Amino acid sequence: MTVEKKAILQKYPRAPDVLLALLHELQRANPQNCLTPEDLALAAAHLGLPLARVRDAATFYTMFSLKPRGKHVIRVCDSPNCHLFGAWSVVEELQRLLGVGVGETTPDGLFTLELTSCLGACGVAPVMMVDDEVFGNLTPEKVRRILGELRGGG
Ligand code: FES
Repeated sequence: MTVEKKAILQKYPRAPDVLLALLHELQRANPQNCLTPEDLALAAAHLGLPLARVRDAATFYTMFSLKPRGKHVIRVCDSPNCHLFGAWSVVEELQRLLGVGVGETTPDGLFTLELTSCLGACGVAPVMMVDDEVFGNLTPEKVRRILGELRGGG
């Protein structure tokens, strides 16, 4: 266990209800933006939960990944309301700008493009989430601007 992961574990009480927050922080600590088998085992041992329950949480929620991902994870809402308001044009523009398909990571390791179910921001459909930030009322032009800002900021 790294010093960083030990410090993360020490911040959390040994209570099952902190599981998602703990997994989120362990994931962010990995350069490849994913949860490793060691992370799942550490969380299970720290919280006194069965490993299967931790793995279920890590695979159920789209915010977690067991596969390496880019520095920034772009998740476009794939639910009906966002589709009605043009989510697919957003996905197509992202695929064009990034040069990757859904589920893929750019060769420079900067972006991973994913689809997700409703992000709870249906009033501003179509919606995408970049890391922890939600962007709504998307158009291809707005997507180009957001991506440009992300690239500019590294
Ligand atoms: Fe897309 Fe709810 S349907 S945010």
